[in-house]
Amino acid sequence: MPTEVTVRKLGSEDIRLIALIDRSEHVDVEYTVAGGRLVTRPVTMTEIPPWDPAGSGPHSVAARVAFCAPIAAGGAAVPASDGERLLGLAVVDGAFEPGLARLAFLHVGGPHRRRGAASALGDAAVEVATASGTEAMYVSATPTGSAVGFYLSRDCALADPVHPDLYAREPDDIHLVCRLGQSRPEASRGERS
Ligand SMILES: CC(C)(COP(=O)(O)OP(=O)(O)OC[C@H]1O[C@@H](n2cnc3c(N)ncnc32)[C@H](O)[C@@H]1OP(=O)(O)O)[C@@H](O)C(=O)NCCC(=O)NCCS
Repeated sequence: MPTEVTVRKLGSEDIRLIALIDRSEHVDVEYTVAGGRLVTRPVTMTEIPPWDPAGSGPHSVAARVAFCAPIAAGGAAVPASDGERLLGLAVVDGAFEPGLARLAFLHVGGPHRRRGAASALGDAAVEVATASGTEAMYVSATPTGSAVGFYLSRDCALADPVHPDLYAREPDDIHLVCRLGQSRPEASRGERS
């Protein structure tokens, strides 16, 4: 089924659409960075559960909404739908720092993956970032095979240097930079081993 993506600013109530995204995932591959290159490491969590719908822990709907709402208010939240259902959501801060946007949230619901929804959301995020006059978009990515595989498919490269504040917050994430409007040299691609 074709994926239809609409780009609009969501209100603070609408950001609760996050609750409709099935975050659960079976993880086969996990990455870390060693010696400036991507390498696989043993998977630390094989079964990622859905968001906690009621609690307030880091993987609860409440915590994700609290994280995304202020970023979406100053930037943009982009929902992807197939005309009937929400497939996924991206939240981008187009003016994170001078010249640098930040893709703060990107999730596609489990049943809707590998249908191009994240690609469409990525395109929309790039549009938001480009409209903000930025040259690059920073992503602190979950170290799973799906997230890293997706960003590598988008020609993102390992951040060098990493952003100090974002790295301090998520040292286990894979920190990536996607250059906007240009492809990066082959030699800088992370290794998928
Ligand atoms: C990562 C994620 C957003 C990808 O969403 P998606 O809609 O399935 O991605 P797409 O269909 O647009 O895939 C585009 C390309 O990304 C790569 N990719 C996507 N899923 C992948 C996977 N599981 N393993 C390896 N590469 C993958 C592929 O190159 C794919 O192209 P292909 O399907 O033609 O091979 C989705 O798996 C997800 O939401 N995962 C859980 C949350 C998460 O990790 N979010 C990122 C946090 S930073």
